[in-house]
Amino acid sequence: MKSKVKYQCSDCGYESIGWMGRCSRCGAWDSLKEISDASPVKEAAVHQRRRAAAAPKQDGPQSMAEVSHTEVNRLDLGMAELNRALGGGLVPGSLVLLAGDPGIGKSTLLLQAASQAAASGEEVWYITGEESAEQVKLRAVRTGCEASANLWLWAQTNLEDILIQAQGRQPGLVIVDSIQTMYAPDLESAPGSTSQIRECAARLGAVAKANHLPMILVGHVTKDGGIAGPMILEHMVDTVLYFEGERHYPYRVLRTVKNRYGSTFEIGVFEMGGEGLTEVPNPSLAFLSDRPVSAPGSAVAACMEGSRPLLAEIQALVSHSNLAQPRRVVTGVDYNRVNMLLAVLEKRTGLKLGDQDAYVNIAGGIRLQEPAMDLAIAAALASSFRNKAIKDKAAVMGEVGLAGEIRPVAYPDKRAQEAEKLGMLMLFAPMGTKAKAKNSNIEIREAATLVEMLDLVFS
Ligand code: TYD
Ligand code: MG
Repeated sequence: MKSKVKYQCSDCGYESIGWMGRCSRCGAWDSLKEISDASPVKEAAVHQRRRAAAAPKQDGPQSMAEVSHTEVNRLDLGMAELNRALGGGLVPGSLVLLAGDPGIGKSTLLLQAASQAAASGEEVWYITGEESAEQVKLRAVRTGCEASANLWLWAQTNLEDILIQAQGRQPGLVIVDSIQTMYAPDLESAPGSTSQIRECAARLGAVAKANHLPMILVGHVTKDGGIAGPMILEHMVDTVLYFEGERHYPYRVLRTVKNRYGSTFEIGVFEMGGEGLTEVPNPSLAFLSDRPVSAPGSAVAACMEGSRPLLAEIQALVSHSNLAQPRRVVTGVDYNRVNMLLAVLEKRTGLKLGDQDAYVNIAGGIRLQEPAMDLAIAAALASSFRNKAIKDKAAVMGEVGLAGEIRPVAYPDKRAQEAEKLGMLMLFAPMGTKAKAKNSNIEIREAATLVEMLDLVFS
């Protein structure tokens, strides 16, 4: 039988019987590639195998009351920041994807976690498809990972071998570095292709579920930020963690994007040094450590990331532009949000910013996105424009609306406590904050509009 020709989007996995220049599902250009392994017999066999591995013990639905429930025993990975991002440790049988730019430190993080988990008695497999076992060992020595007898290295890319061994020996944790290098030998396509990545992840997931075996997969990120290969990888796993940071800065942020077993938007903070990654239990202190004193254009934002309050320094520089269209350069915060704030400042407070270049940046090379940072960004811009410093030892929070009004933020109490803990004496905040933030002794100054607020913040 002649096999049918189909086309598949290499970004999202969408299939079509005709070629198109642009994927009609995800809109990517020139992403449809011909796939020829559409033999129905083979596909059926693949599905059969997948189903068999994941088959539940009995047929048909079950009453909710009868479904057994036991408190899950989460696996402690030895690092509080990593456990936090996972929602308190690794759930048995869960499939976790750790995504990030090449060179950001994914392998280092997982090797350190593997070593800690192994030291606590768990049999951990670190499967590397990118480096040789010797290279991994070299890194382990450099980062001081304990040479535990429970930590097993395996340079292997053949998925079938891995699954057979894992089902036979039942380790406590399997780490696959990376999913892009794995291949299922019964598929014709090359490692790293959409169908290989999808199939490998599906089979790993099925074995993880059936054996209550937690697995962590490493996935590389493409230049435009998607996980290389299909986006469907995100739907196939239980938890998606992003490891991010600027390469030239030491700080790395582990961000939870999806979590079936915990809250999303949690973050863990690490610092990359000569001996691998160290945890940063108090990120606010680290981010504010090199802050200039009484410098115009600098504001401390009281942010929240997940359940965690975080203080960060927003820096702005506004200076006269020689260009017809002034420059706006933004790193770490949302570009469109900064443009919106510039417009609100000009229209509602009368600052003539239209012919000014504006640069906005978060110190430390981290990235934060939250409406509550609006006021800090606006205050930093105004401060630089007027060349006047914001009051010393003050933090700022509040969302700014298009009418120039300052809107309330979530968890004002936690933010106020964090600011107080970090030695701030004053908090500039939306109306009503004082009533909500009763658990802190910091002095709270409230204002309803940006105009009123700009009268308060300068020293
Ligand atoms: P790596 O974990 O290999 O990144 P990934 O797996 O995400 O591609 O980390 C690579 C970078 O980390 C490399 O540029 C060097 C740096 N690094 C350190 O600065 N200190 C260290 O102790 C280690 C192990 C790596
Ligand atoms: Mg790596």
